Amino acid sequence: MAIERVGVVGFGLMGSGIAQVCAQAGYDTVIREVGQPLLDKGFGRVDSSLARVVKAGKMTEDDAKSARRRMRGTTDLKDLQECDLIIEAVIEELVEKKAVFGTLDALCPAATIFASNTSSLTIVEIAAITKRPDRFAGLHFFNPAPVMPLVEIVQALTTSDETISTLRAFVTSLGKTGVVCKDTPGFIVNRLMVPYLLGAIRALEQGVATIEEIDTAVKLGLRHPMGPFELIDYTGLDINLHVANVFFDEFKDPSVAPPPLLKRMVLAGRLGAKVGRGFYEYDEKGQKKSPQTK
Ligand code: 3HC
Repeated sequence: MAIERVGVVGFGLMGSGIAQVCAQAGYDTVIREVGQPLLDKGFGRVDSSLARVVKAGKMTEDDAKSARRRMRGTTDLKDLQECDLIIEAVIEELVEKKAVFGTLDALCPAATIFASNTSSLTIVEIAAITKRPDRFAGLHFFNPAPVMPLVEIVQALTTSDETISTLRAFVTSLGKTGVVCKDTPGFIVNRLMVPYLLGAIRALEQGVATIEEIDTAVKLGLRHPMGPFELIDYTGLDINLHVANVFFDEFKDPSVAPPPLLKRMVLAGRLGAKVGRGFYEYDEKGQKKSPQTK
């Protein structure tokens, strides 16, 4: 099946990156958010990301304008009816995702493929709400989506091989590399990354070193682009706590239990760069200032 038009539900950090990547690759892209202010915020994010790509000389200004013209915002899920593929990137809550796909299933033709960008929920559990579990898969992008070259293509027990080959071709057409994996907690990347990030928080709790020393050690000792605390702040403490809870529920393994400090920081509203405060503080432009001292 050829994909020509893509729908994206959710215009937050991930949804805006995913929609931008689709439009850049030439797809007409319809994005649905719950209200105009969130649509405006998402388009603001896309505009500054496209400006970065143009400034870096990786795209002409004309191509950026064309990509932007291929994107259309809406607050009505009905406007996604004509899409061949719909990628959902709403809040990481099962009830929210089920509500979106329940509505879309009633609106869209049987051939439309549905995909969730969930990082931690079980694909088959979301697919089961629809009458098309064979045309339902995970498409897990990485932040920042316009830059990161990987997409995990998640094959649930019910996903057909035909759906997977369509999604493989789609991911390649975005200029990304797709890896197919099973519908298990964390798929491939988060399964390996989350225990490492939680280990860094536990090292901090145990006084092994400061936030900055741990980040510096990982950046220089492992050549990672970001240290673990920079990365947790970048992806969001709430997201990391959510993933850790899902892992612990599934595996009952203490190594993936959320460290008490992570839970308390989320309760205190220190969710990371997106709110200006996580393990580090950030200025209004999102630039890192100093690490938290308490
Ligand atoms: N849009 C477009 N371009 C962007 C961008 C964005 N949002 N963010 C960064 N860039 C571009 C910059 O323009 C720059 O381009 P250039 O090299 O051609 O000039 C390039 O990316 C590098 O950016 P910077 O020079 O500003 O900064 P850095 O060199 O520090 O790179 C980074 C920033 C790409 C974010 C890098 O730090 C990095 O790769 N960090 C790790 C990110 C990571 O691990 N992501 C995965 C998180 S896990 C996840 O998403 C899964 C989820 O389930 C939790």
